[in-house]
Amino acid sequence: MKLADAKKDQYRKLAKENSYRSRAVYKLSQINKSYHILKNGMKIVDIGAAPGGWLQLASKLTGNTGLVIGIDLKEIEPIPSVITLKRDVDDRETLPTILEILGGKADLVLSDLAPNVSGLWEIDHLRQIDLTRKALEITKSILRQEGNALYKVFQGEATSEFVADTKKIFSEVILTKPDASRKQSSELYLLCRKYKPTKIYNNYL
Ligand SMILES: C[S@@+](CC[C@H](N)C(=O)[O-])C[C@H]1O[C@@H](n2cnc3c(N)ncnc32)[C@H](O)[C@@H]1O
Repeated sequence: MKLADAKKDQYRKLAKENSYRSRAVYKLSQINKSYHILKNGMKIVDIGAAPGGWLQLASKLTGNTGLVIGIDLKEIEPIPSVITLKRDVDDRETLPTILEILGGKADLVLSDLAPNVSGLWEIDHLRQIDLTRKALEITKSILRQEGNALYKVFQGEATSEFVADTKKIFSEVILTKPDASRKQSSELYLLCRKYKPTKIYNNYL
């Protein structure tokens, strides 16, 4: 077995042992260990959340006073005290529904969105960035001033423009690749800190 496969296997095994739904939970957990983005009492919106590993961790770390909302095209099996929505990020009704449930602004937006991959890298990359742009647009309407966001991006020709766009609305943008993310996979995570809204974005309502 190759080293990368062994690592993938190791995190899958750990997820199973700890009753997490996906090995992806260890990517968020490792980012959180370095940057402390998940805190007790937070309101969190997780976009592209199925099967729900990130939701499980977010719910655990926000505690009883927090609010965690997960959105995905796919059905998410219920998780205690987590609200899940079966929705497309591209659906016009998605944003108003999130705002209604939030009843205010979110402290943190997470996006681990990924399209069904075709195997043709350029196409998959562009589709993934396009999806993540939808998450960025939603963020503008739901995140509180000084709030944080985390976006997965598939690296490629459109990445630098996306990073530049996040830098226009966040004070700090950090590119990070946790150990649980396979070295040969070209995914990266953008940790965007301190949202600085430039205008009122609740214009969908
Ligand atoms: C890598 S998975 C997320 C894993 C998740 N973070 C976890 O810990 O279990 C990416 C998700 O993005 C979702 N997705 C892709 N396109 C979407 C869209 N247009 N709207 C909503 N979700 C979408 C997929 O259905 C998939 O469940």
